[in-house]
Amino acid sequence: MELNNRFITIKNPIDGAAEESDFEIKTDSLSLKLDPGSGHIILKNLCVSIDPYQINRIKRYSSSQSASNFAVRIAPGEAFDAYGVAKVVVSENPEYEKDDLVVGLITWGDYTVVKPGGMMRKFDPMEFPLSYYLGILGFSGLTAYAGFFEVCKPKKGEKVFVSAASGSVGHLVGQYAKLLGCYVVGSAGSREKVALLKDKIGFDDAFNYKHETDLKATLKRYFPDGIDIYFDNVGAEMLEAAVANMNIFGRVAVCGVISEYTGRKNRSAPEMLDVVYKRIKMQGFLAADFMNLYEDFISTTYDHLRNGKIQPLEDISDGVESIPSAFVGLFRGDNIGKKVVRISEE
Ligand SMILES: NC(=O)c1ccc[n+]([C@@H]2O[C@H](COP(=O)([O-])OP(=O)(O)OC[C@H]3O[C@@H](n4cnc5c(N)ncnc54)[C@H](OP(=O)(O)O)[C@@H]3O)[C@@H](O)[C@H]2O)c1
Repeated sequence: MELNNRFITIKNPIDGAAEESDFEIKTDSLSLKLDPGSGHIILKNLCVSIDPYQINRIKRYSSSQSASNFAVRIAPGEAFDAYGVAKVVVSENPEYEKDDLVVGLITWGDYTVVKPGGMMRKFDPMEFPLSYYLGILGFSGLTAYAGFFEVCKPKKGEKVFVSAASGSVGHLVGQYAKLLGCYVVGSAGSREKVALLKDKIGFDDAFNYKHETDLKATLKRYFPDGIDIYFDNVGAEMLEAAVANMNIFGRVAVCGVISEYTGRKNRSAPEMLDVVYKRIKMQGFLAADFMNLYEDFISTTYDHLRNGKIQPLEDISDGVESIPSAFVGLFRGDNIGKKVVRISEE
């Protein structure tokens, strides 16, 4: 039997801001007959993660493309691989059976063919929605957990600033920080996001960075006694302003620099004398480096979820055809919480 398999690709390399018209849907025919003993499996994709880092994969060149296996370049016509949840429809791999649920690297499309050794594992979603395994119980959650606890080494009572605070990683960092007893302020790009952070997610305070003209002065207002930890999701002027307001022995976790992904002119130039004299520690990190923390992260986060101590924010749209707008929307600030596209009901 043959199926039509739709998948998303780009028409041309994209070096600046992406637009929906830069993407197209291609259709391949997919045979459901696998060679016996090939070790391959065919998955029906159920939901996929939409992440900012994909923009660096579709450029002609980005230094990230050679730095990590997850970040290799995607050429026009090629399928995107992304973290996702799927169901096995055909298996020639003894480790998987038809109808197993799996989480791992799938495509931005209807189906995925996985070769032996692909990044994939079976899982039991227990009482939680499948989409949680892409957000709070997936890589966004691990990024927030490892970045905050392992990179920032926080202490109770410290003052924490989080940018892109209503996003997939940011809203979880803020909640882990509150659970530890820190004072937490977030920045976000709309009045609705700011209200959500303060009224529902438990941040001590939040502000709309788009309404501020002098970010150094803004952070001085929110942190009159200085910042101990800055969890950086955006880079550029916000990083400069945070460094200017850091306390002695402050820590900056450089998780991502989304405001620098779409243009080279928007680079940050933090005052390095501040870094030296205030002995500020700045560390870039990748969540994948912290798989050793996975068991801790998952059991702690399950407990918080079950006890209602942490609230996941999700932003879900439907269908392969919605992937380009979901992705482009990340850079417009359309999403609140983890952006997921549901490809198919279970
Ligand atoms: N190191 C790692 O392993 C790792 C893992 C996952 C993610 N990341 C990084 O972490 C950051 C957040 O990722 P995420 O998945 O949680 O995405 P996200 O925050 O859910 O979505 C992106 C958000 O970034 C904000 N944004 C977009 N353009 C911006 C700009 N020019 N200036 C300031 N804010 C902007 C928007 O919110 P506003 O409305 O607030 O502008 C948007 O909603 C990204 O930099 C990403 O690359 C790193």
